[in-house]
Amino acid sequence: VIRRVTAPQIAARKGGEPIVSLTSYHAHTAAIVEKYADFILVGDSLGMVMHGMENTLGVSIELMIVHGKAVVRGTKRALIVVDMPFGSYEESPEVAFRNAARIMKETQCGAVKLEGGVSMAETIRFLTERGIPVMGHTGLTPQSTHVMGGFKTQGRDEEQWPDLIADAKAVEEAGAFAVVLEGLVEPLARKITGEISIPTIGIGASAACDGQILVLEDMLGLGDWAPKFVKVYGKLGPMIEEAVKTYAEEVKDRSFPGEDQVYR
Ligand code: KIV
Ligand code: NA
Repeated sequence: VIRRVTAPQIAARKGGEPIVSLTSYHAHTAAIVEKYADFILVGDSLGMVMHGMENTLGVSIELMIVHGKAVVRGTKRALIVVDMPFGSYEESPEVAFRNAARIMKETQCGAVKLEGGVSMAETIRFLTERGIPVMGHTGLTPQSTHVMGGFKTQGRDEEQWPDLIADAKAVEEAGAFAVVLEGLVEPLARKITGEISIPTIGIGASAACDGQILVLEDMLGLGDWAPKFVKVYGKLGPMIEEAVKTYAEEVKDRSFPGEDQVYR
């Protein structure tokens, strides 16, 4: 039996070898990613990346479950973390538990992630005390884009630091097994990482974090734009275009299907 990585195993990696993670939304890419990643996040970024939405606010629980199931089916070893979408947990700890439990039952994932610090601490505690491992997410929280006034790097102004530090600490104290730090200036990410006992998973938050995450499609070069913090490791967009273009040409000049593709 191949055992899956567990939330406590991720928590135990604090301060050790950096934790490797990426997002994935479907079975095929997840199977590739888990060869190298400790955990895979089925992020609500799928609304933008896979479904052409302008932000993550329109993502439903059903959509998260569809993609979560696909990723769990496509993998054997990695811990699968599924994002709780906007509107599925903020109202009360009870609502959050009901929706998190549904996500876990239907997808068989190993943990959920939700955005928010001090304001979500009670909810995180409610879930973790009832059997649901929670990954926190503080700093730039995309589901609050309308309150924050866009996707803005956090902590450029040192006056913001006490609140951002308090958020990460609240998540830690509430029992989360790790926390995503998104869009933070390096010195603040370093300070938070040094002050909390759970691993910090950075995205746009420097190499000072205990681990890193990126949106897979971004690092594969599938979009026509990616934020500054993304390193593009592959150029899949141009490769796909070249393949589709060649196919179109070969269909038109009847060189496809060729000898090898024909049943005689
Ligand atoms: O939805 C997502 O992909 C995320 C990561 C970028 C952390 O929340
Ligand atoms: Na997300």
